[in-house]
Amino acid sequence: MSWVVIDEEKCTGCALCATRCPRCFTDKEGIILTDAQEGNCILCGHCVSLCPTEAITHAQFKREDFVEIDRGVNFETGRFLEFLKERRSHRHFLDKKVARQDLETLMEACRWAPTGSNVQNVEVIIYTNPEKISKLSDLTIDYFVWIGERVRKKIARLEAEGQQDALDYQMTFRALGLGERMIQDRESGRDPIFHKAPVLMIFHSVSPTSAPKDNAVLAAHTVALTARTLGLESCYIGLLEVAAEYYPPLREELNLPQEHKVFDTMILGYPKLKFLKTVPRRPIKVRWE
Ligand SMILES: Cc1cc2nc3c(=O)[nH]c(=O)nc-3n(C[C@H](O)[C@H](O)[C@H](O)COP(=O)(O)O)c2cc1C
Repeated sequence: MSWVVIDEEKCTGCALCATRCPRCFTDKEGIILTDAQEGNCILCGHCVSLCPTEAITHAQFKREDFVEIDRGVNFETGRFLEFLKERRSHRHFLDKKVARQDLETLMEACRWAPTGSNVQNVEVIIYTNPEKISKLSDLTIDYFVWIGERVRKKIARLEAEGQQDALDYQMTFRALGLGERMIQDRESGRDPIFHKAPVLMIFHSVSPTSAPKDNAVLAAHTVALTARTLGLESCYIGLLEVAAEYYPPLREELNLPQEHKVFDTMILGYPKLKFLKTVPRRPIKVRWE
């Protein structure tokens, strides 16, 4: 049975639903037929949202969850571009807590980011406890020390085999020493991973799903931009992501649900430094066709 019911009294046959979604709707000369089911309906809600006469009822949704759009987008483009250009990665934060309510606002923004096939399965862990954040930082550093040792052994093997010039060799060589540098940083009182940020967000999801990395990146960047409207700044931290993939003690500490992987990590807080100028960026390479 179709999840969608069309109220024939209200339907004008405008076929906006069928135009938008030929998978679930068919326009038979003004009579709209529907067959929305698990196999073809991705629960995007577009049919209900588009229908001008509220003729569509979808069994998987409550009508009150569709909220009237009465204003449309009213940003001034130039100002919005400035807002994007003024975003910088911040690694110095004031010793000031971020209110729970603001974090909840960020999560409200986060759930409106699009996801592949509308899977809506990005989850977030929000750390605000400095000891916990520090522990995750230590485990990430441990990973780079641990991997550094393995890299050293690998280089010795590659050299023994006369493969010093291999790309593999060059890449592993670059990775060497990262752990030691992180330890030195930590010993001088800095946190080389999370920069003593008051908030750490980990974006994760089940791994075999539609576009998990893209989903997490979009969710995270929606948070990063919304955070700016609250006076908060952020920085992505790829270092944890790679450690979480390969270092069992860190995985254990993160305690992710089964089959979940970390797909993005971000620190947030009130910025200590104020950037006075935008920075240069390379022009985008575009092929106009
Ligand atoms: C995927 C990704 C991973 C990143 N990982 C780190 C990181 O681990 N540590 C860090 O300090 N910055 C990290 N950054 C921040 C980049 O260094 C920064 O975005 C870049 O230098 C450009 O600076 P801007 O964000 O201020 O424009 C990361 C950025 C991205 C997009």
